[in-house]
Amino acid sequence: MKRVLSGIKPSSDSLHLGNYFGAIKQQIELQANYQCFFFIADLHALTTVHSKEELQKNIRNIILDYLALGLDPEKVTFFRQSDIPAHPYLAVILSNFIPLGLLKRAHAYKDKVAKGEESSVNAGLFYYPVLMAADILLYKPTYVPVGEDQIQHLEITRDIAERFNKLYGQTFPLPQPFLPKKESRRLIGTDGKKKMSKSIGNIISIFAPEEVIKKQIMNSYTDPQRIHPTDPGRVEGNPVFIYHHLVNKNKEEVAELEARYRQGKVGDVEVKEKLYRAFMDYFGPARKRRKKLSSKPQLTEEILLQGKKKASQLAEKTLAEVKEKIGL
Ligand code: ADP
Ligand code: TRP
Repeated sequence: MKRVLSGIKPSSDSLHLGNYFGAIKQQIELQANYQCFFFIADLHALTTVHSKEELQKNIRNIILDYLALGLDPEKVTFFRQSDIPAHPYLAVILSNFIPLGLLKRAHAYKDKVAKGEESSVNAGLFYYPVLMAADILLYKPTYVPVGEDQIQHLEITRDIAERFNKLYGQTFPLPQPFLPKKESRRLIGTDGKKKMSKSIGNIISIFAPEEVIKKQIMNSYTDPQRIHPTDPGRVEGNPVFIYHHLVNKNKEEVAELEARYRQGKVGDVEVKEKLYRAFMDYFGPARKRRKKLSSKPQLTEEILLQGKKKASQLAEKTLAEVKEKIGL
């Protein structure tokens, strides 16, 4: 059975539509036919989260969110990065097989430098892709399901693996990104400009209270050229219609709304109210499960303990192989 690995950074306590359609949906679907290892990248979250309470709350919430969305801990090895010391250990080793210049070109770091923020960037952010390469290579996965913004990290991982294999002989298979269909790879945010991202706040949350979600949807950008509901509107690239296509199971309703929008025969409010309803239908069952799960405080630690046992076996094996090959 082919192996799949992915991680999620607990840098906030709520998942959004971009996380779901960009990565989580694929991850959950893959659990049926692949040997899956998914983990909470808590060491990676330290680049931004510097409060113990916040970090622990985020970790717990993300696990419950995943379970509510359909992740089955019987099928998937679900673990916490910091429970497996082989991750930072391999990262230290791999840092010797990557040129500094390559890390300087990594998006997260480069963007900060472009904004003139280099002196406030912590070294953890600079080092982020090396730790991520270790996360991946330890488990020798075939696929890594992620959104488009992670492709560069996958490229760096492959680069490191190739350099290592060349020096010490075939050790790491080269992992492939597993991407969703085109529309979901980089889901646009409710501001209609940037990718949906929690750091920008242009999100539609999956598990937030109904009134928050309603507000996020009702405040979403649509077609800026359209001033009155009787003006013909643009459907292509319009975030509200992009979201409709993802969550609205009533395809006839979407087609009919699009046709009326193009003709100037429907207002933004109706389109958004229907989107809100479709969103609640789509995520309603998961939201219900999520409520039930929050009454089981022991559950997350039990799952992580199980996951730790399975993940550490594989990780330790790879680390031992690497140490032996390089002479440690
Ligand atoms: P954020 O950008 O909100 O901080 P993360 O960096 O934690 O999100 O991303 C978690 C996962 O969700 C990653 O695999 C990432 O590629 C995916 N993802 C995040 N935002 C989007 C988006 N707007 N479209 C598609 N995938 C996304
Ligand atoms: N960088 C990923 C993100 O921001 C999280 C992550 C850390 C990850 N390590 C990983 C994803 C390994 C896939 C594989 O979303």
